[in-house]
Amino acid sequence: MKNLFDKYRTQVVLGMQWGDEGKGKVVDLLAEQCDMVIRYQGGANAGHTVQFDGKQFILHLVPSGILRPGLTCVIGNGVVLDPESFLEEIHSLESEGFEVMPRLHISHLAHLILPFHKFIDKAKEASKAGQKIGTTGRGIGPAYSDKISREGLRICDIMAPDWQDRIRTFMAVKNRQLGLYDHEPLPDKEAIDLIGRFRGKAAGSVTDTRRFVYQSRQEGRRMLLEGAQGTLLDIDFGTYPYVTSSNTTIGGVFTGLGLNPRNVDRVIGILKAYTTRVGNGPFPTELTDDTGEHLREKGHEFGATTGRPRRCGWFDATIGRYAVQVNGVDAIVLTKLDVLDNMETIKICTGYRIGDSVFTEFINDCSMLAQAEPVYETMPGWQTDTSDIKTYRDLPGPARAYIERLETLCETPIETVSLGPARSATLWRAVA
Ligand code: GDP
Ligand code: IMO
Ligand code: MG
Repeated sequence: MKNLFDKYRTQVVLGMQWGDEGKGKVVDLLAEQCDMVIRYQGGANAGHTVQFDGKQFILHLVPSGILRPGLTCVIGNGVVLDPESFLEEIHSLESEGFEVMPRLHISHLAHLILPFHKFIDKAKEASKAGQKIGTTGRGIGPAYSDKISREGLRICDIMAPDWQDRIRTFMAVKNRQLGLYDHEPLPDKEAIDLIGRFRGKAAGSVTDTRRFVYQSRQEGRRMLLEGAQGTLLDIDFGTYPYVTSSNTTIGGVFTGLGLNPRNVDRVIGILKAYTTRVGNGPFPTELTDDTGEHLREKGHEFGATTGRPRRCGWFDATIGRYAVQVNGVDAIVLTKLDVLDNMETIKICTGYRIGDSVFTEFINDCSMLAQAEPVYETMPGWQTDTSDIKTYRDLPGPARAYIERLETLCETPIETVSLGPARSATLWRAVA
């Protein structure tokens, strides 16, 4: 197989639905062909699964490329970094024998998530009567809120000589906010101890990643930018307020890393062959019947971060086309096609009916989306086990017809098809 990084030096992998599309598997596969893997937004709310040699790894904060020996990894300024999760993840990777710290570069401008943020995340959810978002509880929203309100704590702050004073000042402000929740102040010592451990482990890895990434590109290094979450969880373009707090779409690359738009050569969108969502919010093609249960069981649709059952439903082509437009997707990787193996018939949503009107484009407004009745077309299933198929032309005819229909509806080539979690369960179609 030819190495597309020779032609497209900087490529982005991002999710086109509500997350969990299989980005981890794809990043791990493509990482074999490049020199660097870089995270640019989100935090430990992500759960990216990589499977090989009979083992499964779930990455939350560290780029999935860390599992490929020798590869350089970067955590950019757009990521919100929880030192507690970070230390746990590094420990678990090192206990598995991976060399991590010498290969990892962390932005001095990234914001930190402290126990305070996780407390507020959970307290806010608990205090909501109806509109719970169903967050991962990882402190993501409160940390990004602090960043935008210019009250955050950055990695450069805790690398400064007066870092302990800076934490005390930060905690004084935050403890006043905790009072609003009738919560006892959190001791400064807890935060100082945690940050002290983080400094001990990570100080040597903290750097100006914008400059590092830019220079690496100038030197011709091949890089893969690993998106977290998915297009419909984007703070601007997702199903607000049932979204995460970062830009999960292509814009997040530029603000979260400091590369400029001309530096991105190719965007690869990851699309699951059906739809899932974890957390609350409207989901027009959701199946609450036995078919939905079948997808959940066969697709092992349980959250990689929280273990929550994922809601499952039919493929929604309005979402696919929307994600192509917002992100400028050049090529699609279609994952989990094997999960549809047993279906007699398969439905594809091509639009929504609301009252007497039919909409063929995705609708962001949640109150409208909640009323949308999917308009479906139905295709025959293939009722054949595809897990051992090695070439695209050996797929059953109805499976190829399904893929090609999605490709037409999404107006973008599906270049790769995934038929299982393993590296080998991947079909590469002829690539231009
Ligand atoms: P991510 O957040 O986008 O990286 O996706 P997750 O790791 O949260 O969820 C995807 C799940 O599907 C993981 O358990 C993967 O191992 C698994 N997976 C990925 N690709 C395939 C596939 O083609 N078929 C099947 N059956 N499972 C897959
Ligand atoms: P990966 O990278 C799926 C969802 C949560 C919730 C909403 C807000 O593995 O695809 P947050 O904790 O971010 O404030 O939660 O976003 N969510 C995800 N859903 N995959 C993810 O990441 C997610 N990260 C956050 O379930 O609905
Ligand atoms: Mg995931």
